[in-house]
Amino acid sequence: MAGKLTILDFAKMKSDGRKIVMVTAYDAAFAAIFDEAGADMLLVGDSLGMVVLGLPDTLSVTMEDMVRHTGAAARGRKHAFLVADLPFMSYQASIPEAVRNAGRLLQAGAEAVKLEGGRTMEATIRAIASCDIPVMGHIGLTPQSVHRMGGYRVQGRSEAQAARLIDDALAVQEAGAFAVVLEGMPSGLASEITERLSIPTIGIGAGGGCDGQVLVMHDLLGLFDAFRPKFVKRFGELKGPVKEAALAYADAVRTGAFPDEDHSF
Ligand code: KIV
Repeated sequence: MAGKLTILDFAKMKSDGRKIVMVTAYDAAFAAIFDEAGADMLLVGDSLGMVVLGLPDTLSVTMEDMVRHTGAAARGRKHAFLVADLPFMSYQASIPEAVRNAGRLLQAGAEAVKLEGGRTMEATIRAIASCDIPVMGHIGLTPQSVHRMGGYRVQGRSEAQAARLIDDALAVQEAGAFAVVLEGMPSGLASEITERLSIPTIGIGAGGGCDGQVLVMHDLLGLFDAFRPKFVKRFGELKGPVKEAALAYADAVRTGAFPDEDHSF
């Protein structure tokens, strides 16, 4: 594969009906692995807080955390397009602050930023996009709104909620986003939004009708057990092998079997 993927490739993939593969990555090592495996987009998600930093939710992830990990992931990948999340309170308080923080993520190595919210974030998305910073929207179950939603709940089940989410999706597109994540909503609603939008939709817990899919890497690799949402499919069970290797190492150190002649100078 030649060169890095761009937003033009994703528009073409939607019009050609080719699915977009997106996965989170928070460091250079895993970014390189998913890049080599052919992921189209990598997301330095603020899920970083939960799966890497051991926090209970995404709310206390900082810009400093995101800048550091965006730089690391950027250095690990060659071809995949890199999106970085604007963390909680880095874009809600004022539009100038949102634009500056979006710029910091691009300077750290991302090619686009993602932020949560629909109609209420229209002006913010427009302002960032007008500075030539590609924006990915994120609507439906938006983890930064966990307390407003009363927990991590599927959104858009009632007719009124579904209509609001369709309006959110249209607002994100009208504001100039190049793509939008649809999280935690009924498959039928996500398919309808996907048909109505000209920009690609990336689903997570939103069924198979979206233009692409995203999963948190620790979920798909079987490395995260704190909770397992229904939509997560574990494509590997790596926790066991990692633990076995760690046990074997500890045993070898304790018995004196490591280091042996072959691993000494
Ligand atoms: O932070 C994240 O990992 C995300 C994805 C779950 C879409 O926003």
